[in-house]
Amino acid sequence: MIRLEHIGIAVKDLKSANTLYKQLLGKRHYKTEEVASEHVITSFFKTGQSKIELLEATSPESAIARFIEKRGEGIHHIAFEVEDIEVEMERLKEEGFRLLNEKPKRGADNKLVCFVHPKSANGVLVELCQSIKE
Ligand code: CO
Repeated sequence: MIRLEHIGIAVKDLKSANTLYKQLLGKRHYKTEEVASEHVITSFFKTGQSKIELLEATSPESAIARFIEKRGEGIHHIAFEVEDIEVEMERLKEEGFRLLNEKPKRGADNKLVCFVHPKSANGVLVELCQSIKE
């Protein structure tokens, strides 16, 4: 894995969270993006080499809606950038990790992503992400 790419934070209201994180980080988010397949709308803040991704559910069946219902707002996942997601998925499977998706899927911010089940990572939902080269 190359680096910590971003931390994903589940929020109830993206608009007010954007205002709060602008105050906290001293800068505005640089983009907002809806991922319709995941029923979320996201915004991104740059924090040096890494980013903060805020996620609001757009439907009650969204994983983010269920997370907030169970655990309240807060850190939802941490994401590591990888060079080759398929190679990394294969490596993790061989190491005994449980992956939440069989194939990489398209996530926000022009990335291919795959999630590792929190039960195989000490309660932390881990995202692997690889930039899509256009
Ligand atoms: Co993410």
